[in-house]
Parts: sequence; structure tokens; C-alpha cells
Amino acid sequence: MKFPGKPRSHRAAFLPLCWLLLKILQPGHGHPYDNRYAGDKLIRLVPKTEEEASALRSMYRRLKVDLWQPSSISYVSEGTVTDVRIPKNASRTLLAFLQETRIQYKVLIEDLQKAVENENSFQTQRSRRSLSEYNYEVYHSLEDIQSWMRHLNQTQPGLVRVFSIGRSYEKRPLLILQALLTYKTDPAMRKMLNHLYFYIMPVFNVDGYHFSWTHDRFWRKTRSRNSRFRCRGVDANRNWKVKWCEEGASAHPCDDTYCGPFPESEPEVKAVADFLRKHRKRIRAYLSFHAYAQMLLYPYSYKHATIPNFSCVEFAAHKAVKALRSVHGIRYRHGPAFQTLYVSSGNSMDWAYKNGIPYAFAFELRDTGHFGFLLPEVLIKPTCTETMLAVKNITMHLLKKCP
Ligand SMILES: *[C@@H]1O[C@H](CO)[C@@H](O)[C@H](O)[C@H]1NC(C)=O
Ligand SMILES: *[C@@H]1O[C@H](CO)[C@@H](O)[C@H](O)[C@H]1NC(C)=O
Ligand SMILES: *[C@@H]1O[C@H](CO)[C@@H](O)[C@H](O)[C@H]1NC(C)=O
Ligand SMILES: *[C@@H]1O[C@H](CO)[C@@H](O)[C@H](O)[C@H]1NC(C)=O
Repeated sequence: MKFPGKPRSHRAAFLPLCWLLLKILQPGHGHPYDNRYAGDKLIRLVPKTEEEASALRSMYRRLKVDLWQPSSISYVSEGTVTDVRIPKNASRTLLAFLQETRIQYKVLIEDLQKAVENENSFQTQRSRRSLSEYNYEVYHSLEDIQSWMRHLNQTQPGLVRVFSIGRSYEKRPLLILQALLTYKTDPAMRKMLNHLYFYIMPVFNVDGYHFSWTHDRFWRKTRSRNSRFRCRGVDANRNWKVKWCEEGASAHPCDDTYCGPFPESEPEVKAVADFLRKHRKRIRAYLSFHAYAQMLLYPYSYKHATIPNFSCVEFAAHKAVKALRSVHGIRYRHGPAFQTLYVSSGNSMDWAYKNGIPYAFAFELRDTGHFGFLLPEVLIKPTCTETMLAVKNITMHLLKKCP
């Protein structure tokens, strides 16, 4: 069994087993990201009726707002929590519209630029730390993450192995860490490692992740160019060949949920799909980690239907969220993605399941929107600790026979 990392959905945030989530900016400037978020607000709205939802959808389209939750305007409907980043120059128009229509809203973040600058990572200015003092409680740049992997590869040859499964659009290596051998102290870990291999891909969307440090803190897609539009990138979690580009994906290159010109058009997706295809007979589980919503999802995403192995998978998910909650009391919802989150097509979890991997899950990590994509660094450790317990719980479930 293996756990390749995964494409996340929101904002290049593919950070599996913890440590690395999103991150920050360029050293040396007064304001990171050229002060581009100054005056931007994060607002939460819950349309109470279908009329309100429809008015919001057209307003969002007109203003070209950045939806944090859900991932596409088409999901905005009666009762859906929508968190939206309003650019400074659009906030007057939007606020006037909300007052006129009496749609209720709440400002979650007054000024996103200030929020970005308050991230600890920015304050501590990420001077390159020596690898021996690797700090797992801050967000790390892609360079730091990759050099940490190479360092482990050299210094822990009995414990891990690092290899590349290909290159990204911008030619960065796609590194996977294979954890093997025994773990001396923890008997549960030892049992798992005796029976299973773990493959961990800390960053799936390497180009998008890098770009989120250098240019756009909230970048989500890959960085491939489009022949007809200036907009770049494809949603790496809509580019898989499973009901590709149908409900819950966009065919427009400028949208955040753009499915790409054809399935597996993105080299990152192709590389991981090839890797999974090659090993699929032996793979027991595929887990992907995304931000944010506090959910543990399993197939299907693309249709309203129950998977054949529902009872085993549901049982594993139920126990895993219970185990997760036992650590810090954080509640995760769990269930089939179409029902728990929304319908989406072309994602890696459904693809893994359709290709014979019996346990395919997607974690939507903390939080539920208070900090959204700006989860503070002090929450990295608690988030990792509880998520790790859920992962271990799922793993132990795999070792047992399920009907
Ligand atoms: C706000 O500014 C952006 C970037 O400068 C521009 O593309 C957009 O059209 C502007 N929106 C409004 C409503 O003025
Ligand atoms: C990991 O170490 C092995 C053995 O030294 C080496 O062949 C391989 O290229 C290394 N992997 C990476 C990504 O550097
Ligand atoms: C998984 O979590 C459940 C619920 O907390 C717990 O009862 C069970 O013992 C855990 N299983 C393992 C193997 O850790
Ligand atoms: C259901 O689970 C069993 C046991 O793990 C497995 O052999 C079978 O292939 C699974 N079926 C599907 C459709 O995933």
C-alpha cells in the first residue's frame, strides 16, 4: 500500500503528512507579494434562498471575486457557506449590493495583506535554516522541502528512499519519499511498516506551490501555459480521466477549477497517474490532503451513488475521524464526497478508486473558514498530530480483513 501525496485542491496546498502547508513570500521587500492584497477582505455569506444564491452567483461572476469556499461559483446555492476574497476595488460595489439586497454577511478578515504579513513565517523571514535544525512548525518553501527530502535520503538510508517520478511543467523534479524499515519505538508503527510500504509526496503541485511563495499567496492551479488564453494553470484535481470535465469542473482556462485541454494534460498529474497505474495491483490505499473544510471524504465525487465497498470504507472513515477528534476535540465530517462536499469530476480520489485502489480518501484539513487558507503556523503541529492519528487508524484498518 502506498500513500502518494496528492493534489489538493485548494491553492497548491498539497501537503501531505503535515509539516508543509502553504506559505509566504519573498525576502527583502517591505510588503510581500507587492502589497497586492492591501484592502482585500475575506467575507462569508450564506444565501438563504435560491434567489439570493442566484443573485450572488451573478455578482461574483461580474466582480471576478476569488472564492475560497466552495471552489467554484456554480456550487453557490441556498444554504451553502461561501467564503470569498473581495479585491479592494470591488468591495464598495459588493457591499452596496449586499446592503441593497439585504443578504447577510460577515467579514472574516478585514485586510488580507495585513493577515499575510502577520504570518509568523513572514516575520521570522525564513532565513535558510540549516537542515539539522529543521523546524516542523513553520511553512517551508519548495526549495527547503526538497532539500530536506534529499538530506533524509542521504542521512537515513535505512529508513527512507527518495526518488523522482518525473518533472513538472517548469521542469522541477516530482519527488516521492518511500518510508520503509522499522520504527524502533512505536509498536503500532512497527507493525504497519512490517506489512506495508508508504509512499509520500509532500508537494504534488510543485510549480503552483513555488508560485504561491513568490507571486500569489492564494494560487491554486498548476502553471502550464494555454495556447489561446493568457490565464495559466489547470486545476490538478480536475485533470484526471474519470468523468473528466463534467459537473463541478470548468472548461474555461481562466477559472480556478479549469479541467485542462485533455485528461492528464498536466505533467504532474500524468506522472502520478503513471506511478499509480504501475503499482495499482499492490496499492491498498490512496490518501490525499487538501485545505480546508475539516472533512474526510471518500468516493464518489462525480456521481450520486454508493460505492460497492461502502461499509468497509465508511467504517474506516468513521473510526478515523473519531480517532482524530480524540486528540484535540476537532470534529471532522465524513462521507461520500458528492454528499459531504459537492459533486466534482476528474479528481484523483475517484480516479484511484476506479482504477482498483479499494481505499481512496481525501482529507480536507483545518479549519472551517476562520483562517481559511491562512491557517496560522501554531496550528501546524496540532493539525499534524491529529491527522497522523487518523492516518494510522486507517492504516491499521487496512491490515485487518474487511468483508
Ligand atoms: C480591479 O482591479 C483589477 C486589477 O487591477 C482589474 O482587473 C479589475 O477589473 C478591477 N475591478 C473593478 C471592479 O474595478
Ligand atoms: C537518493 O539516494 C540514492 C542512493 O544514494 C541516489 O541514487 C538517489 O539519486 C537519491 N535520490 C535523490 C532524489 O537525490
Ligand atoms: C481507531 O479509532 C477508534 C476510535 O477512536 C478506536 O476505537 C480504535 O481503537 C482505533 N484503532 C486503532 C487500531 O488505532
Ligand atoms: C472491496 O474490498 C475487497 C476486500 O478488500 C476487495 O477485494 C475488492 O476488490 C473491493 N472492491 C471494490 C470494488 O473496491
